Amino acid sequence: MTQTSLSRLNWSPELQLNDPRTDATHEEFIVMLNATASADAATQLPKFQELVEHTVEHFAQEERWMRACGIAEDFCHFTQHAGVLEVMKEVERRALLGETDLIEKMLEALVEWFPGHAQSMDAGLVTYLKEKGFDTATETFAVAA
Ligand SMILES: [Fe+2]
Ligand SMILES: [Fe+2]
Repeated sequence: MTQTSLSRLNWSPELQLNDPRTDATHEEFIVMLNATASADAATQLPKFQELVEHTVEHFAQEERWMRACGIAEDFCHFTQHAGVLEVMKEVERRALLGETDLIEKMLEALVEWFPGHAQSMDAGLVTYLKEKGFDTATETFAVAA
């Protein structure tokens, strides 16, 4: 049985930030979120757990880049990630105890949250990294010629 769900994100030009690694990670996030939304009852929790794992890596990647540029740990981009991840992990914990209906609510919240975050925090980060000469592919700074 396939569940119907409104929790879907579509890739759109406004989400494209023109940093290949960021865009690839964000596309994966969207694909995994949609796969979780359309999963049947037997596979939705493991799919959600994959999404949580991917999000841990996704956020850690951006945070590594921020730290490389010396951005302070209390900057709001770190705080936003921490807040989202805390709720995702709590939903995972409770879903493992049987409250699997929380997953759908979490997906709806992520669908609401992600485009705004990508277009503000992540877009700002991509611009900042370019200004600093930080290459996200190699995670190194361009050496001035
Ligand atoms: Fe991101
Ligand atoms: Fe982010």
